[in-house]
Amino acid sequence: MIEIICPVCGEKLEKTDKMYRCIRGHVFDVAKQGYINLLVKKNSKNPGDDKDMVKARQDFLNSGFYENISEKVNSSLEGKASILDVGCGEGYYTDRLQNATSAEILGVDISKEAIKIAAKKNKKVQFLVGSGVNLPFKSGSFEAVLCMFSKIFSKEYSRVLKDGGQLLVVSSGKHHLLEMRELLYDDVWVDEVDLEAETGEQFDLIAAEELMYKINLENKQEIMNLVRMTPYYYKAKKERVASVEKLDALEGLTVDVKISLYAKKG
Ligand SMILES: C[S@@+](CC[C@H](N)C(=O)[O-])C[C@H]1O[C@@H](n2cnc3c(N)ncnc32)[C@H](O)[C@@H]1O
Ligand SMILES: [Zn+2]
Repeated sequence: MIEIICPVCGEKLEKTDKMYRCIRGHVFDVAKQGYINLLVKKNSKNPGDDKDMVKARQDFLNSGFYENISEKVNSSLEGKASILDVGCGEGYYTDRLQNATSAEILGVDISKEAIKIAAKKNKKVQFLVGSGVNLPFKSGSFEAVLCMFSKIFSKEYSRVLKDGGQLLVVSSGKHHLLEMRELLYDDVWVDEVDLEAETGEQFDLIAAEELMYKINLENKQEIMNLVRMTPYYYKAKKERVASVEKLDALEGLTVDVKISLYAKKG
């Protein structure tokens, strides 16, 4: 079993009845949904994705539009005995991964709203509210870390990985949702993370793949879910968002993601 450590003092957390406690007396409750809230330092009242964003993502992902991505993730992590999904959101990929493997899987997200939903979805995965910057695990705990469309905290991911451990990053490619971005903005910029800059110090790239396909959004609800699960909803002009949400369909929309596998540097 992966050991969870106290985010305050770093001592081992022991489970007693409905709480986790360290030898120094720091106590963390287990919620009725089964997750543990280990977030101690908050920069805002409700950090991470809010309830509406989480709900939109849940509905969109449950429609199956990104199932191909999930399949690729599952096959890339085949054979790993312990996996940490950081920034796991409402657990769509975490749940499907757990259903495909006997690995011990933990999911961490800074959003309590997201973790609440994730914990209801899959009881086998241990979900935690916490930050990717300061993960509540001992160094060298996991065989793999998964980071999907989330911030890459390379130093911390490398720390919690065993020697020879792997990091799988899924990020947006140049053309991801391009047709939607063209409707939302006058100037469409390249929305791509510089993976080499983010990971280069701690990791070596061992395999990179681009997954590109088209999806058809057939009704207003599907369009609304996609717009609202992205930061574009907050960043684009309100009237542009409203005009996209008035559309009855959005066909031939490009999904373009990069799946990059890294090995922890020795
Ligand atoms: C775009 S969502 C991706 C969610 C999920 N991986 C997916 O692909 O469906 C990014 C997630 O990162 C979380 N997040 C943001 N900052 C974080 C941090 N410092 N530590 C952990 N999670 C964080 C957000 O709450 C959100 O759920
Ligand atoms: Zn403690």
